[in-house]
Amino acid sequence: MDKSTIVCRCEEINIDEIETAIKYGAETFDDIKRLTRCGMGPCQSKNCIGPVNEIIANNTGKQLKDLPLTRMRIPVKPIKMKVLVTDIENSSIASVLAESVDEDGDNR
Ligand code: FES
Repeated sequence: MDKSTIVCRCEEINIDEIETAIKYGAETFDDIKRLTRCGMGPCQSKNCIGPVNEIIANNTGKQLKDLPLTRMRIPVKPIKMKVLVTDIENSSIASVLAESVDEDGDNR
């Protein structure tokens, strides 16, 4: 496969950049993420983690099953601010907030 092939479409990271990160000591997807921003795009690595782990396995001799899971951060799915501020009385967030505040309005 051509080394210029994009693996992480969100951050436009290609195979060559990933292999360079591995040469500099990256051994996991999180290492690659820290060095290249691969996996930090809008899809939060849903599309690139598989191919990147295969490249890591091919370049390090490790088995795919031995590679650690990546650290996922919330929000896993981006939400718009207007979801949080509009129609708050009918939103599921309102029910969560209501449960965390007692009758006097104090936080539990
Ligand atoms: S394809 Fe890599 S973060 Fe979306």
